[in-house]
Amino acid sequence: MTTLGVNIDHIANVRQARKTVEPDPVQFAFLAELGGADSITVHLREDRRHIQDRDVFLLKETIKTKLNLEMAATEEMLGIARKLRPQYVTLVPEKREEVTTEGGLDLKSNLKYLKNFVENLKDSNIEVSAFIDPICEQIGYAKEIGFDFIELHTGKYAELSGHDQYKELQKIIESTYTANDLGLVVNAGHGLNYNNVKEIASINNMNELNIGHSIVARALAVGLERSVREMKSLINLT
Ligand code: PXP
Repeated sequence: MTTLGVNIDHIANVRQARKTVEPDPVQFAFLAELGGADSITVHLREDRRHIQDRDVFLLKETIKTKLNLEMAATEEMLGIARKLRPQYVTLVPEKREEVTTEGGLDLKSNLKYLKNFVENLKDSNIEVSAFIDPICEQIGYAKEIGFDFIELHTGKYAELSGHDQYKELQKIIESTYTANDLGLVVNAGHGLNYNNVKEIASINNMNELNIGHSIVARALAVGLERSVREMKSLINLT
């Protein structure tokens, strides 16, 4: 069965827009779990634009499922991960100017550094995943480096349509099979939504899908009417 990892970065985005205390991603992780989330994913970015250090440590203490910490392969993040000890770390490329993670990791050019980095995480009993594009060459390197999981980048699939989207889907399917043959567990994510998720979820042996933006967007759509109604009734009481 394919499981669902809910990425709650966008809850923190709304909080950071005002640099206040609400909405609190810790509270929303609890709600995501109530809804059936199998794991909670957060990306602690170098610039701390959404998730903060306090969030990851509180989440680790309070969630009932598993914490997947997305992070760049930097010494600062290694220190935090070793202190935090989340169940999983997903290594992602990070650029300060990007709006969201734009592409997969380039494993080839960082082979030696990443081998050492992954080993350090595994020494702390953390399972490690690599966010990569669905390219067979990258999967071979993921195995060589010692990753337990890979997360296939579905961003391109999500952006395309028609035959081009079909071709990208075939790449994701082939990559999943290649990785499985090498003994790697396969997750996928980025840009998945209520319209395009089924094809990815039905790939054989797809372990977990990490989804954030579309779930948070949907939460606003299904929750806004009630939140306005509640405010209106408070105003009418005065
Ligand atoms: N997986 C990774 C590695 C990501 O960086 C992100 C975005 O933070 C996601 C999954 C979730 O993407 P989306 O918010 O588009 O669902």
